[in-house]
Amino acid sequence: MLYPLTRRLLFCLPPEFSHDLTLRLLRHWGELLGSGKPLEGRRVQVFGREFANPLGLAAGLDKNASAIAGFARMGFGFVEVGTVTPRPQPGNPKPRMFRLPAHGALINRMGFNNLGVDQMRASIERARASGWCENIVLGVNLGKNKDTPLEEAVNDYLIGMRRLHDVADYFTLNLSSPNTPGLRTLQSGAALAGLLGRVKEEQQLLASGGAAAVPLLVKVAPDLAAEDVAIIAEQVALAQIDGVIATNTTISRDAVRGARHADEAGGLSGPPVQSLSLKTVTALHDLLPAGVPIVGVGGIDSPSAAQAMLAAGADLLQIYTSFIYQGPNLVRKIVRAI
Ligand SMILES: Cc1cc2nc3c(=O)[nH]c(=O)nc-3n(C[C@H](O)[C@H](O)[C@H](O)COP(=O)(O)O)c2cc1C
Repeated sequence: MLYPLTRRLLFCLPPEFSHDLTLRLLRHWGELLGSGKPLEGRRVQVFGREFANPLGLAAGLDKNASAIAGFARMGFGFVEVGTVTPRPQPGNPKPRMFRLPAHGALINRMGFNNLGVDQMRASIERARASGWCENIVLGVNLGKNKDTPLEEAVNDYLIGMRRLHDVADYFTLNLSSPNTPGLRTLQSGAALAGLLGRVKEEQQLLASGGAAAVPLLVKVAPDLAAEDVAIIAEQVALAQIDGVIATNTTISRDAVRGARHADEAGGLSGPPVQSLSLKTVTALHDLLPAGVPIVGVGGIDSPSAAQAMLAAGADLLQIYTSFIYQGPNLVRKIVRAI
């Protein structure tokens, strides 16, 4: 009930400033009260993990795992932290996040600003020791540093896996941010086959000491041609990757043309990406072998949008932008409905 007022105050501030302020408040609030429990919804078992409900927080909001306790209190069944890169990096120059309120949308070109894997490890260890992740599934989204050459990108993903495999419940390989030059080319052809084969091998190596293998997911863009989606599905199946997250933000501006900030460079998120994400999930569902889970994300702003994503073939859901616009009440509404 308080969120509309809170939002009015937050939306008076520049987007990134209010984002950082909210994270800081959530962090203190969560740590003061403890993580609480996820909302009990439809329990699901996906890639060997048990979820109290199928709705998660998408990557990019808690990039450094600094507010896990706060987000866990919001009722999510899972939280994905990151994108984290091996070394800390500042991201792109500010301003780099823009609101398009008439569309309930955001455009961002953050560029993987984050504190690096060592800091991420320390934050998750602290959260685990304090019991803040006891009831939720915690995913870690991995990326590459901007200055790592594309040909060596796989090494950055391997560093993330090695450094964090005993604290993460699953990993997401982010191959689809539009804000790291060249990153999305890793989604296609020979680059993808090599990358997936190598990370799968590492997953098995890391588990060979008796530890359980940490599920590996790949996050894809909503702007892929049908042939590219088919190649991804084929390579995911071949490398026995454990799941796909569809989708990241879009570079298309078709749905917001003419709006203030529509021409800012970066990825567009929120309702304008919904139809592209749904299309990608539908295609993946048709192409992937049965049993390879799909996490549907992109423009989910209501229980009916969540239902549509599930009907398209998603096993789990994530939200980001509409959570910023609607607050924790959206989590409750969706979890109750699905
Ligand atoms: C400001 C902002 C930062 C983001 N950062 C990341 C990121 O670091 N890694 C990632 O995989 N996705 C990132 N995303 C994409 C979201 O996780 C999600 O895939 C996308 O926004 C679509 O969902 P939505 O329409 O519910 O926001 C970011 C999105 C926004 C708006």
